[in-house]
Amino acid sequence: MANVAVIGSQWGDEGKGKIVDWLSSRADVVVRFQGGHNAGHTLVIDGTEYKLHLLPSGIVRGGKLSIIGNGVVIDPWALLQEIETVRKQGLEITPENLMIAENATLILPVHGAMDRALEAARNKGDKIGTTGRGIGPAYEDKAARRGIRVCDLADEDLLKQKIDNLLMHHNALLAGLGADLFETEQVYDSLMQVSGSVLQYAGPVWKRLDEARLNGEKVLFEGAQGVMLDVDHGTYPFVTSSNTVAAQAATGSGVGPRSVGYVLGITKAYTTRVGSGPFPTEQQNDIGEFLGQKGHEFGTTTGRKRRCGWFDAVMVRQAVKTSGIDGIALTKLDVLDGLDEIKICIGYKLDGVQVDYLPSSQRAQAEAVPVYETVEGWKDSTFGARSWADLPASAVKYVRHIEELIGAPVALLSTSPERDDTILMKDPFLE
Ligand code: GDP
Ligand code: IMO
Ligand code: MG
Repeated sequence: MANVAVIGSQWGDEGKGKIVDWLSSRADVVVRFQGGHNAGHTLVIDGTEYKLHLLPSGIVRGGKLSIIGNGVVIDPWALLQEIETVRKQGLEITPENLMIAENATLILPVHGAMDRALEAARNKGDKIGTTGRGIGPAYEDKAARRGIRVCDLADEDLLKQKIDNLLMHHNALLAGLGADLFETEQVYDSLMQVSGSVLQYAGPVWKRLDEARLNGEKVLFEGAQGVMLDVDHGTYPFVTSSNTVAAQAATGSGVGPRSVGYVLGITKAYTTRVGSGPFPTEQQNDIGEFLGQKGHEFGTTTGRKRRCGWFDAVMVRQAVKTSGIDGIALTKLDVLDGLDEIKICIGYKLDGVQVDYLPSSQRAQAEAVPVYETVEGWKDSTFGARSWADLPASAVKYVRHIEELIGAPVALLSTSPERDDTILMKDPFLE
């Protein structure tokens, strides 16, 4: 029986949290493998809402092991705060059900400060619209080999030395940007205050996942963000600083590529984006307002209004290829209820020539003009539908047409934020 990797196929916020929660009933272990608390995953269970940022969405179910893999960047204060928040909602978090990779990189307050200072210093057209959580600077430090990792919290002398080395770099830049500087002692003291709380969960994740493989336990890999925010395959430089494609599930948790299994791409029935960067099918008009209002498109992490537009089949088809998506979970179909007609982007015009993919060049991405196909909408409600037979004929046609255009089948269909308003077409764990 295969493992399953869940990834976003657009610009994030496709509904990954809901689908991971739903699928986790079939899994033993749920692993986050990239990103950090820039993510915001909303789960609704019997009317109760959970907002998760760093904790894997499997944490809500009892009897599952949740893992934060080495590919994630962890802000220890944000993590402990989130644990407190969900505990108040009645969830139990112990080293029995949460494990953190000892080789994961930490986000420190200096990373957040640097993220915000750099963003403020960028010219208007260059601003990325980051979440300001320090994600980029933390990944930079990891690649630059000056990062501080979870396991470093257990070695006090080395930790101090590493903080010194890290601040030497950042303070020089912060001074240049006219921002406040950081002191080694202060950073060290504040880390020491949380080190015990974090270390109780730390361990060799790759080893635990190897045991899972040997024991036949089913693993669900939970991605954050989406393929178009991938640092290699996305709309660079308007991306996040990690790989969000499915292959990262292996690197970011310490398993071989064959262990990743079935790749499920979570796909919204239209498109949204938070932050700046190209968005060919964006609708800055009544349609965009309609989608945003009906879909409650406000960021879970920053509360920012999400930009909204029509479904872009070219972009999702590209995500299917670069991530090896085996099937998709189509979400928020209900948001399209009531529209007379619906548009789907099937190509782009660039300098008058039609192309069938989104080129890498920043200029081309900014100038790509969508070529649309118009299909019939539906008047009946699909909200909360739990069977394929309950869907209006035009909605079924829309779903089938999307499958054809993107070259991947719909394995799951989501029709409301509630956990159980989900239609299963093909069980990814049985594929
Ligand atoms: P994620 O970042 O991919 O986990 O997605 P978010 O949680 O940031 O955003 C998705 C939002 O849509 C959440 O508020 C979900 O509760 C909600 N949602 C998920 N699936 C559906 C659906 O099928 N229909 C509707 N109306 N809302 C949904
Ligand atoms: P989930 O997991 C949507 C966007 C930010 C910004 C860019 C870079 O909820 O789908 P960063 O802080 O990562 O350096 O910001 O990436 N971004 C997201 N957009 N959903 C997310 O996560 C996102 N995480 C980051 O808005 O444009
Ligand atoms: Mg989100």
